[in-house]
Amino acid sequence: MRIDIISVAPDLLQSPFNHSIIKRAQEKGLAEIVVHDLRKYGLGNYKQIDDTQFGGGAGMVLMIEPISNCIKKLQEERNYDEVIYMTPDAKTLNQGTANTLSLKENILILTGHYKGVDQRIRDKYITKEISIGDYVLTGGELAAAVLVDAVVRLIPGVIGDEQSALTDSFQDNLLSPPVYTRPAEFEGMKVPDVLLSGNFPKIDDWRSDQAYKRTEEIRPDLLDNE
Ligand code: ADE
Repeated sequence: MRIDIISVAPDLLQSPFNHSIIKRAQEKGLAEIVVHDLRKYGLGNYKQIDDTQFGGGAGMVLMIEPISNCIKKLQEERNYDEVIYMTPDAKTLNQGTANTLSLKENILILTGHYKGVDQRIRDKYITKEISIGDYVLTGGELAAAVLVDAVVRLIPGVIGDEQSALTDSFQDNLLSPPVYTRPAEFEGMKVPDVLLSGNFPKIDDWRSDQAYKRTEEIRPDLLDNE
């Protein structure tokens, strides 16, 4: 999968993709992540990329021409399955969206800043808008990093143990059951007997039960969506 990201703060996106699983995915050739500096497409000597709002109001708006020129150039090089805009005023990212996007070949992600982008960019180029939660970040870069991480780890072959991604929280609309490792007892706190029993059907039942109980207690809304 190829992922292009357009940003006014490309430096913010260097570190998140240079660690562990996401780094290895790129080294294995399963994901290619390329960040484009919007400033390079800025207008005039000052490389202007933002301007005040029509109609007045605080905050700058990212201008249409630099973004349009950048998107057009990238679209000349390849077809994108989705052109995504990261913004708080959109549907919230969930595991289902991450699963769907992990099957795509080319994705282009636009990150906003300040008051956001000129609405005409959204109308003309954007095929999908994604928020990572009901709070406002200073820019879309961290949101894009979250999206890319959630998607890339699902690409077949990225996580060695295939089972591991499939048994994540949310894959079946349930939170994960608790997990334990050695020692079997720590300061009087014991690992549940069933996990030491070697009885795998029973362990599966226990895990399902725990996942359901946890979801009911912490995120009952997930059960309503079934
Ligand atoms: N940009 C600023 N806040 C955001 C959010 N919550 N989700 C996606 N992009 C954003």
